[in-house]
Amino acid sequence: MPDKNIIIALDGWSGCGKSTLAKAMAKALGYVFVDSGAMYRAITLYFIRNQVDVADHIAVEKALASIQLQFIFNPAKGSSDILLNGENVEVLIREMEVASRVSEVAAIARVRQFAVQQQQRLGEKKGIVMDGRDIGTVVFPQAELKIFMTADKEIRVQRRLKELKETNAAITADLIRENLEQRDYLDANRAESPLRQARDARVLDNSTLNPEQQFTLAMGWVREVIGQAH
Ligand code: DC
Repeated sequence: MPDKNIIIALDGWSGCGKSTLAKAMAKALGYVFVDSGAMYRAITLYFIRNQVDVADHIAVEKALASIQLQFIFNPAKGSSDILLNGENVEVLIREMEVASRVSEVAAIARVRQFAVQQQQRLGEKKGIVMDGRDIGTVVFPQAELKIFMTADKEIRVQRRLKELKETNAAITADLIRENLEQRDYLDANRAESPLRQARDARVLDNSTLNPEQQFTLAMGWVREVIGQAH
């Protein structure tokens, strides 16, 4: 692979496996991987813990001023964990309580501004794979490679069920389906930076692809883009 640092933006619906692909690509390319959803989830966790009223602009502003987010490399996983004011909250932010509130918090303009600013700073040196909802449209509209991921809803539900079952025996497919539908709707219909496919994005429908197949497809695109940049 030619030595060229680019920005890879990976957007798409909830539960499509964006992070899995983004992590694998970052590892293969020696790039930084940033899970932008983790930032919105950590902010949501702070809001829940501190009972921040999302309709109260002053309370939101005050809360954001008290939030420090950092990513720290976890060698055991080979990817980064997110720290909220120094506390590793990587596991806590995946729980259903956060999942059911995060779209509401991520819809707040000031919250997005706060997160996007930090995301853009992380991409200054390029050599980054970032996954989210607005990475190719708002955070890095100049990204050299934009991928929009999609997958059949029932397949997404079953994949998430398998993942969450490991830590939560009470979880059901119905609960997950309800959460995915709600997040898909809120993410795509909010006023601020709704989930949209960028015009220059390549669509990756992984309904019938396994992780290796989607990795091969995406890395082919990277090769194409890097080749063109030479
Ligand atoms: O990728 P995820 O499921 O961990 O994201 C959690 C929520 O955060 C998702 O429902 C929408 C929001 N999000 C966003 O609005 N913009 C991003 N760039 C990433 C996530």
